[in-house]
Amino acid sequence: MQHYLSINDIDSLPDWVDGARALKIDPLQSKSLGKDKTIGLLFFNNSLRTRLSTQKAAMNLGMEVIVMNFGNEGWALEYGDGTIMNQGKSEHIKEAARVVSQYCDIIGIRAFASLTDQKKDEAELVLNGFKEYASVPILNMESSVGHPLQALTDAITLAENSNKAKPKVVLSWAPHPKALPHAVANSFIQIMQRQDADFVITHPKGYELDPTITKNSQIEYDQRKALENADFVYVKNWSSYDDYGKVLSQDQNWMITKEKLGDAKFMHCLPVRRNVVAEDTVLDSDQSLVIEQANNRTYAAQIVLKKILEHLK
Ligand code: CP
Repeated sequence: MQHYLSINDIDSLPDWVDGARALKIDPLQSKSLGKDKTIGLLFFNNSLRTRLSTQKAAMNLGMEVIVMNFGNEGWALEYGDGTIMNQGKSEHIKEAARVVSQYCDIIGIRAFASLTDQKKDEAELVLNGFKEYASVPILNMESSVGHPLQALTDAITLAENSNKAKPKVVLSWAPHPKALPHAVANSFIQIMQRQDADFVITHPKGYELDPTITKNSQIEYDQRKALENADFVYVKNWSSYDDYGKVLSQDQNWMITKEKLGDAKFMHCLPVRRNVVAEDTVLDSDQSLVIEQANNRTYAAQIVLKKILEHLK
């Protein structure tokens, strides 16, 4: 079964990026591929881009789409094996995943990290529960640990906007009033590790990400030094990984300003808090790629669904 759970499920990144760019030129080229197939998109958390772009991608492939806000409208799910279910949980993942598999040919899951229980978050209970018990392919629409649809989008956007064989790409932490997950940063790092780029991560001390993900990627604690001669600046907040889920700093000196950006292109997955993460003049400038990134979400989802559908045939 071909799932899309992480960017490790991409066999050839250049081929997938080229395939997505071809779909962007002609979105309806495979309109009959998804005929009589249904995708169910289950949201345990909020979404704008993922929800609409994945729906649009499926429609471009001729699929029927069922969307459910599972977090608000579904039964509270139990994931433990052998649990005596006499407390708040009404339904077990074993039944839920099998039931949804009868209605859908592909199941998309969005389930964020709790940021309160690192072990449980890293076990990816919701995503892996559906993977284990569903009988159809699973699409990760952002889990505790990764956001592979966003990362594929970012690779497409970089390919479209880069005129250098080896651009300098900086992932910069920025302040945010709320504790945010690590998923977007993790997947962006993983996809950058598969690209030919001069890649640098910059964040305040204490915001080191999972070392099994950052591996040998360069980390520079001085943001201004990291940003020198950057071609692309990808900005994202995340909470502490070591002091799990904590906001250690809201230092506004880390906000991206036009002056700091220089001539680089600005990237962010959205939603973005204006004048906290990046100032208006950055987001409103021609250097901002955020709207094009959001547009590319459709074609990233479409190439992934196309690969899964081709595998189903
Ligand atoms: N970037 C992203 O995943 O956006 P949504 O949370 O709105 O889906």
